[in-house]
Amino acid sequence: MDNKRISSSHIDSLEKISVNIQPDVKSGSLVIAKTIADLIRKKQAEGKPCVLGLATGSSPKTLYAELVRMHKEEGLSFSNVMSFNLDEYYPISKEAPQSYNRFMQTHLFGHVDIKPENIHIPNGEIKKEDIKSAGSDYEKQIEDAGGIDLQILGIGNNGHIGFNEPGSGFYTKTRLVNLTNSTRLANAYEFANISEVPRMAITMGISTIMKSRQIILMAWGPAKAVAVKKSVEDDDTETVPASFLQNHD
Ligand code: F6R
Repeated sequence: MDNKRISSSHIDSLEKISVNIQPDVKSGSLVIAKTIADLIRKKQAEGKPCVLGLATGSSPKTLYAELVRMHKEEGLSFSNVMSFNLDEYYPISKEAPQSYNRFMQTHLFGHVDIKPENIHIPNGEIKKEDIKSAGSDYEKQIEDAGGIDLQILGIGNNGHIGFNEPGSGFYTKTRLVNLTNSTRLANAYEFANISEVPRMAITMGISTIMKSRQIILMAWGPAKAVAVKKSVEDDDTETVPASFLQNHD
């Protein structure tokens, strides 16, 4: 008997989400960048927009650097790209160094030919009483764009996707949420100290994410291993929001 084959088929049978293991962040990011570039070019050839759902944080930095390189060195155009970011802190000014608005300009939008009117990021500057209708508008804008073709996600150490923290339901939409202390702690490196990290955020919901035609979740390094295992191998549950991705086509 071939023990190697037995153990690998045993591992496959545990996976409820298909997994692509890469040797390092760079190789993994290149695979995802190529998938995005192929989709953008395919849509260009069809004369159609390419609707991308985008994430921030440390996980997509190498991916965005590769997309910028492809734009500069290989002529990959973003002129047909429409983007919808997953989330933004609340409250936060667009110009704040830690805002996701600023992050996207710094790492991607400021270096490629995406049309400014095609960029959508939840607005962390609006009045609290306007957030509910802004959330519905965001859902409508995604729908009017034809839905998200490809959603890029990271994962929190606690299994969150977007800022859908543990406890977020399957049917949630774009809305205001409270951030857990573990998320605020994980993101504190961007701020002077943890008390500066906003306590709230506006995020796409689980159902918003689930409507995307294709979803790629990046998880780099051992800190994400437990959340990935729970999401991929265990039953789906509100306590690990990324596990809901098991229900995606
Ligand atoms: C960011 C987002 C979050 C992050 C997650 C992982 O837009 O939606 O879910 O993807 O917190 O963050 P990093 O990549 O910094 O480990």
